[in-house]
Amino acid sequence: EKGGYDYFMLKEIAEQPKAVADTLLGRIDAGGSLTLDEVRIPVHELREVDKVVIVACGTAFHAGLIAKYAIEHWTRIPCEVELASEFRYRDPILGTRSLVIAISQSGETMDTLMALRHAREQGSKVLAICNTNGSTIPRESDAVLYTHAGPEVAVASTKAFLTQLVACYLVALYLGQVRGTKWGDEIQAVIRDLSQISGEVERVLETMEPVRELARSLADKKTVLFLGRHVGYPVALEGALKLKELAYMHAEGFAAGELKHGPIALIEDDLPVVVVVPSPRGRSVLYDKIVSNIQEIRARGARTIVIAEEGDEAVVPYADHLIRIPATPTLLQPLVATVPLQVFACELATARGNEVDQPRNLAKSVTVE
Ligand code: F6R
Repeated sequence: EKGGYDYFMLKEIAEQPKAVADTLLGRIDAGGSLTLDEVRIPVHELREVDKVVIVACGTAFHAGLIAKYAIEHWTRIPCEVELASEFRYRDPILGTRSLVIAISQSGETMDTLMALRHAREQGSKVLAICNTNGSTIPRESDAVLYTHAGPEVAVASTKAFLTQLVACYLVALYLGQVRGTKWGDEIQAVIRDLSQISGEVERVLETMEPVRELARSLADKKTVLFLGRHVGYPVALEGALKLKELAYMHAEGFAAGELKHGPIALIEDDLPVVVVVPSPRGRSVLYDKIVSNIQEIRARGARTIVIAEEGDEAVVPYADHLIRIPATPTLLQPLVATVPLQVFACELATARGNEVDQPRNLAKSVTVE
């Protein structure tokens, strides 16, 4: 049942190229446009949406944080992302033109379910992004976009996360498409890139041996920090979450720009810090800033583990360890940048003798609030 792998998690990491391709299947037509007829919210209603609110927990919340960058960029609709467990307790402002997106692998997470019930009571439309057919969250939503990751058995979410990202990009691009934005050409180009991305995820998986080796060498460490900017920030949060739940290590993700506002005080000699570097093409301000962040922490003794695009030579002098990922458009980078972090956490957990598929104190679906 584990298909020759020692753990379900390893199997599910390896299944990611297929999961991503399956989630795209039938949703891009021959002309390169999106066909999301299954999202049964009428196009005229989607055109009237004046606010998107994403609710989710854990890893699904990180997918939502990334979705915000895509939705706001491609549609110019304001988007909020909130932990489902916090959402309904603060009397959120919702109306009939709000589109609430509930992201959940299991479709049974109680916090997310209660958040979507609250949204529907306020008259908002709810779109579920879910991996489990016929589960409670899609049943109680106005519409659903299923991720086609297949069953995810390991408690730590991997392939479900990548397919949640794909689904979020599809929703963002679709909203852009139906409303028409100045980014029409970019949307077309990104749809093309998205249709190739499964092959890029495959290429990342083929180069993971050095990451495993690095993980094993860090098995005695107490803390690992993760830094990112823009969509790299939620990737950093996800890398840290994976490490907490699997390796039981102190791990924290930060927005790199926040370093100087406090976290830089944590940097000490030989502290491993993983940095997710955006593409040097295009948004050069973002890129230059993170390169100087890497220099700042390295000057204070950090052991830098740099995840950078192939062909990015400027980071090489500051990387104690370099993990290469394929070039992608900035917004799609999380699809390739997250994979090494999953492998890293899984291998560290194994090296520390932890139960990879069943981490202590955790359950696959959290059906209590
Ligand atoms: C982390 C993890 C959890 C879930 C969270 C939401 O690896 O698995 O953080 O992502 O409990 O679960 P779903 O997506 O089923 O609502």
